[in-house]
Amino acid sequence: MRPPDRASELTLGGCAALLVAAGSGERLGAGRPKAFVVLAGRPLAAWSLEAIAAAGVPRAVVAVPPGHGAAAEEALGRDFPLGLAFVEGGATRSESVRNALAAAGDAEAVVVHDAARPLAEPDLFRRTLAALADADAAIAAARVTDTIKEAGPDRLVVRTHDRSRLWAIQTPQAFRAAVLRRALDVPPDVLARATDDAWLVERAGGSVRVVESPPANFKVTTPHDLAVAESLLC
Ligand code: CTP
Ligand code: MG
Repeated sequence: MRPPDRASELTLGGCAALLVAAGSGERLGAGRPKAFVVLAGRPLAAWSLEAIAAAGVPRAVVAVPPGHGAAAEEALGRDFPLGLAFVEGGATRSESVRNALAAAGDAEAVVVHDAARPLAEPDLFRRTLAALADADAAIAAARVTDTIKEAGPDRLVVRTHDRSRLWAIQTPQAFRAAVLRRALDVPPDVLARATDDAWLVERAGGSVRVVESPPANFKVTTPHDLAVAESLLC
């Protein structure tokens, strides 16, 4: 049975963005947290906040590395037409999401985004939130273009997957706030295994819909990624 159409209940005004920016950026190796690394003249996290504001989401909670709250307010706290709050992130990404969600007040829906994806467009935030109309979660995803094979520890291929059904999962990821709150209420070892928040909803039996994203929504992980993002923005 098709779930009830819940679109009319949700308005952008009742949404909050949770921007996770508390990682250390070890693979980037810039000597400071990745969210504060300068990309095309602005801190990396600023690009996401601009897109979130342009999407019409009225507030955002930013999870920053412990001890970096004042620096984050200084670097990010002024330029955006958004209600902004800063919280300390946790030891894992999911803990950072949980800390940010706890500061999101009475938001009906939340959209979680990695500060490390500075090229996410406002439209992608809007489309993931709109897709909550008939799902518990709606997540940005790219079609897989390479052939995906599974190999054992000995690197011998054991299986080739059907690419037509495979999606590479990204952020933004939109959730009914109550659904995400329940999904995150799990023991620390489960939280530590989560490479995205939607998996926590899936394992709790919730429905998760993919929303196709444009190619530019890659994650800045390495110096090469930063150079590509810089060339796309300049
Ligand atoms: N993140 C977070 N809290 C953590 C770990 C990660 O908020 N404890 C955030 C990062 O800031 C980033 C996103 O989750 O925006 C995706 O993580 P990743 O790309 O792995 O960033 P880092 O953890 O900073 O990078 P690395 O793994 O290379 O240290
Ligand atoms: Mg990491």
